[in-house]
Amino acid sequence: MARTYINELGLHAGNEVQLHGWLYHKRSSGKVRFLLMRDGTGVVQCVMVKGQVPDSVFDVFDTLTQESSFSVKGKVRKDDRAPGGFELDVIDIPKIYQIAMEYPITPKEHGIEFLADRRHLWLRSTRQHAIMRVRHRIIKSIRDFFDGRGFTLVDSPILTPAACEGTSTLFDTDYFDLGKAYLTQSGQLYAEASAMAMGKVYCFGPTFRAEKSKTRRHLTEFWMVEPEVAFNDLNDDMDLAEDFLEYIVQSVLKDCMPELKVLERDVTKLQNVKKPLPRITYDEAVKILLDKGLPFEWGNDLGGTDETVVSEQFDRPVMVHRYPSEVKAFYMKRDPENPKVALAVDVLAPEGYGEIIGGSQREDDLDVLLSRIKEHHLPQEAFEWYLDLRRFGSVPHAGFGLGVERTVGWICGLEHVRETIPFPRMIYRNTP
Ligand code: 4AD
Ligand code: MG
Repeated sequence: MARTYINELGLHAGNEVQLHGWLYHKRSSGKVRFLLMRDGTGVVQCVMVKGQVPDSVFDVFDTLTQESSFSVKGKVRKDDRAPGGFELDVIDIPKIYQIAMEYPITPKEHGIEFLADRRHLWLRSTRQHAIMRVRHRIIKSIRDFFDGRGFTLVDSPILTPAACEGTSTLFDTDYFDLGKAYLTQSGQLYAEASAMAMGKVYCFGPTFRAEKSKTRRHLTEFWMVEPEVAFNDLNDDMDLAEDFLEYIVQSVLKDCMPELKVLERDVTKLQNVKKPLPRITYDEAVKILLDKGLPFEWGNDLGGTDETVVSEQFDRPVMVHRYPSEVKAFYMKRDPENPKVALAVDVLAPEGYGEIIGGSQREDDLDVLLSRIKEHHLPQEAFEWYLDLRRFGSVPHAGFGLGVERTVGWICGLEHVRETIPFPRMIYRNTP
């Protein structure tokens, strides 16, 4: 008999199927016994009635422990009360793969560290399953968005010779006879080179920050997608970010309602995520903070709390542009109309989720870029190849980076970014 998956039971109503999976839960009321099987695509209730199945099958109920792996044959019955709309009337349990030892994660409440230590098992629970499905959908929508607009995916290297986002958060490693190599903080510099070859590109991969911050928004390893477009300026960059965010959120709303329901997400908040997104300058953001009575000095970067307060003024993501250049990366172009600020944009998610996108128009003038590299005490030799992009046909260009985990956290409505990635890496955790 062909293998069937739980999320396909609708195609087989009234027919016999065979499922393979794990015991999620079981319960019994005398003559009727219920096995809840999960198979990765969903959970289905398998019903056994004494006398209607052989006793040898009925008694398997007693041996199956939580997370035991088995296969079941049965007849698919439509049942509107069932979560997936179908139940299975058991005919046989032809195979038990393994009787699981006592499973440490039970339906009772466990502490977060207990669960995090067992992340390899915790992933099996309904809530984590839902988050991973949404994450998958977000990643697919990211690819679909750029692929559908003529962007070329260009993978950037993970081992790099220099810093991209400041030297304080670099992971280093010995690299044979060549000295130190660094785990990439961002693929941007390589995306810029690729944009000069291909016009519209994106890179998408893991990035690393030796973040000393223990916040609910920081990981040391996270996934970032970074589009880069030749001849785009800051406004074009914001237009792209706006289209992009609307596309991601609307795709998740279209395809992940069951998962968002498991997560008890208030989707009305997500339905607002439509163009146009509000655009304010850093100066306007500072004014919001001062009006709210927060102690804030012009020139500082927005901290987590500042971002929360600013974003709470809006019902959708807000773009804050033109930050003081002093607090931003060396490659950002200064505003010709006010050199104190950079042509930079951060997109802050609503509901206090903070910065999900950071981007800018890039400095395209060779001499200015050289002096920035000096000001930031970066080793010029390591950037010679990057400077070549300004020597050979330099053009205005812009791009941004979207952090996948912060986006997943926001869309799923999670407390902490640690649940947004299968195996999180944080300052105090690199296991399992
Ligand atoms: O603002 P960031 O540092 O920008 C860059 O790296 C640019 N090179 C991107 C570009 O223009 N191509 O990081 C971009 C995004 C942030 O907005 C945030 O979503 C995420 O990456 N991010 C983190 N996510 C989780 N943990 C961390 N430690 C993160 N640091 C940044
Ligand atoms: Mg940033």
